[in-house]
Amino acid sequence: MAVSAYDLTGRTAFVTGAASGIGRASAVLLAQAGATVHCADRDEMGLHGTASLVKDTGGTAHTHPLDVTDRERLHRAVASCGHLDILAAVAGIMHSSPVLETRDEDLDRVLNVNFKGVLYACQEAARVMIARGTRGSIVTMASGAVDTGGPGLLCYGAAKAAVVQLTKTLATEVGRYGIRVNAVAPGWIRTPMTDRHDEETQAHTEALMSRMSPLKRVGEPEDIAHAVLHLASDASSFTTGQILRPNGGVAMPW
Ligand code: NAI
Repeated sequence: MAVSAYDLTGRTAFVTGAASGIGRASAVLLAQAGATVHCADRDEMGLHGTASLVKDTGGTAHTHPLDVTDRERLHRAVASCGHLDILAAVAGIMHSSPVLETRDEDLDRVLNVNFKGVLYACQEAARVMIARGTRGSIVTMASGAVDTGGPGLLCYGAAKAAVVQLTKTLATEVGRYGIRVNAVAPGWIRTPMTDRHDEETQAHTEALMSRMSPLKRVGEPEDIAHAVLHLASDASSFTTGQILRPNGGVAMPW
C-alpha cells in the first residue's frame, strides 16, 4: 500500500475534454498527484493552456487535438500512450430544447459527442488495459440531469443516462481484469459550459444554485476534479459500477 492511496506516481492518464473546465482541472490534479497526463480535446489552443498549467506545477502533459466522435483518431491517440492506467472521459456539450421542438439533428449531435464519444474512449482504453494486464480505472462524466431530468434537457439527459448505463455495464464486463469503471454526476459547476454570457443572468443563476445547496455555494471545476482523482486512484480500490454525485447536496426541485 502506498503511503497515500492518492499517489499516482508512475501512472499514465488519458483525459478527454481537457482543454477547459472540469477536464482541465482533472488533468491538472491528476498530474499533481504524479500521473503523466495525455490531454485530448478538439480545442487545440485550450489544450496548450492546460499543458502549460500542468508543466507549471512540475508535471508532464502530452496533447492530442482530436474530436472524440472520430473513433480512428481516438484509437491512435490512446495507442500512442503505450501503457494506460486511467481514462477520464470528460468531453461533452450542452444542448437545450423542449421535447416538442427537438429535432433529429440535435439528438444525433448530442448523442454522438456525449455518449458515443465516451463509448469510443472507454473501448479504446479498456482494450489497451486488458492487452497489457493493467488493473486500470475508467472514470466517465454523467450529470445530475440523469436523476432529475429538467426543462430542455431531453438530448443532454438521454446521452448522460446512456453514459451511466455504459459505466455500469462495462464495470460488470471488465471487473475480472481488475479494471474499475465509475461515473461522476456533478451538479451545477461554474465552467464555460454554464456561462450565460450575461452578467445579470449569470449572477441570478449562481445565486439560485447557491441557495439550493446546503453548502450555500456553487461548484467549481476543482470540486469535480477531486472526485475524478478519488475514482482514478487506489483510494477507491473496491469501488466499481458506481455513480459519485458531487452536487453540493442539491436535489433539483423542477
Ligand atoms: P466545458 O465546455 O468547459 O468543457 C468541455 C470540453 O469538452 C471543452 O474543452 C470542449 O472543447 C470539449 N469537447 C466538446 N466536444 C468535443 C468533441 N466532440 N471532441 C473533443 N472535445 C470536445 O464544460 P464542462 O462544464 O467542463 O463539462 C465537462 C463535462 O462535465 C461534460 O461532459 C459536461 O456534460 C459535464 N457536466 C458539467 C456540468 C456543469 O455544471 N458544468 C454538470 C454536469 C456534468
